[in-house]
Amino acid sequence: MDHFDYSAGALRCEDVPLADIAAAVGTPVYVYSQATLSRHARVFAEGLAGVPRKALAFAVKSNPNLAVLRVLAREGYGADVVSAGEMDRALAAGMAPSSIVFSGVGKTRTEMAQALAAGIGQFNLESEEEGVELAEIAASMGLIAEAALRINPDVDAGTHGKISTGKAENKFGVAYDRAAGIYAALSALPGLHMRGLAVHIGSQLASIAPLEAAFVKMGALMRQIRGQGLSVSHMDLGGGVGVPYKPGDVFPSPAEYGAMVARVTADWDATIMFEPGRVIAGNSGVLVTQVVRVKPGVAAPFVIVDAAMNDLARPALYDAWHDFVAVAPNGAKMTANIVGPICESSDTFAMGREIDVVAAGDLAVFRTAGAYGATMANTYNSRALVPEVMVDGARWAIVANRIDPATILAAEHVPDWLK
Ligand code: LLP
Repeated sequence: MDHFDYSAGALRCEDVPLADIAAAVGTPVYVYSQATLSRHARVFAEGLAGVPRKALAFAVKSNPNLAVLRVLAREGYGADVVSAGEMDRALAAGMAPSSIVFSGVGKTRTEMAQALAAGIGQFNLESEEEGVELAEIAASMGLIAEAALRINPDVDAGTHGKISTGKAENKFGVAYDRAAGIYAALSALPGLHMRGLAVHIGSQLASIAPLEAAFVKMGALMRQIRGQGLSVSHMDLGGGVGVPYKPGDVFPSPAEYGAMVARVTADWDATIMFEPGRVIAGNSGVLVTQVVRVKPGVAAPFVIVDAAMNDLARPALYDAWHDFVAVAPNGAKMTANIVGPICESSDTFAMGREIDVVAAGDLAVFRTAGAYGATMANTYNSRALVPEVMVDGARWAIVANRIDPATILAAEHVPDWLK
């Protein structure tokens, strides 16, 4: 459920007509509903009511906007970060350092030192080599790093290949069979306190079965490691719960996911950690765009919109579906190809899609764009970096400025020898 609904024939975010925002800010623009963000944060937490000891860390990569993080901080979430940049955002949003988990397969020594200095709660180590480095750095700073070992459980998440992370051939985590040995070796290092295990098998999972298979394997590994006399007090189960993008899509609810986790982890005697991203942010945002013009095509007309693959990369990258609806539909439908202005054919949002009839100048939105939307935007074709707006009831504010091409150009320099 979200708070993007039609009222008097026009699409609103909460109580604000999207047309008002488009008129004031221009298009394309991402618009987030604060009520939806809060609701999803609560529904996810409530789904986990059967898990007595837990910690929720919002996956910042899914939507790192400062105002979005502020909403999550107020809902009691910490953060899962994968760079010093994301860590700084979580801290700036008011998240406690101890509630921040540092994930990522390529943390640099500089980032590790920064995170140690900031006092972040847990490093999720992706290799023995990384653990040895972190131990050295922490010891040299007179600190002890709290760490978990990320496991590659070799489970097929059944999602798009580009967002699967838990198969043996993926770059993430350490091999399941080697994990107990690595955990023991790292536990012996000064500067490091191994406190747990972590897993994340992929994103946009349509079924909880692969998650359950991975968690069961994690439970067995946890018991094996404890059997070696080592402590495992924290189990990080990652993110991955998918959301419906297409009408008719059926996805596991947070309640079903939570019930599964409660059942599988009932006798774990550990703090269970979660890193949800898309399930919280996905349906909380839309990308508002304006139709530039409509031109004939062979099988269907091309609806050329002013948003492009640089603003919303998911269709180009993952063949992702984002619902496209008119802001003020007239009730009629057409079959069309929806494309952006960028000069390559991957700048296609949909082919042969039945959509609301739209014409040049009309506003429309791509739905479910709150996760992995603005954060993956770039300036390809020397386009602006897309702005973001947050709505709360009847009020709204720009929460990320449009960065104009002129500003980007001003940061580039012609060296003396070329002048
Ligand atoms: N934890 C870790 C370690 C992750 O790598 C991710 C996502 C998450 C948590 C959050 O997963 P979520 O709950 O959002 O599924 N750009 C792609 C998605 C990439 C996901 C990367 N990792 C997309 O647009 O579909």
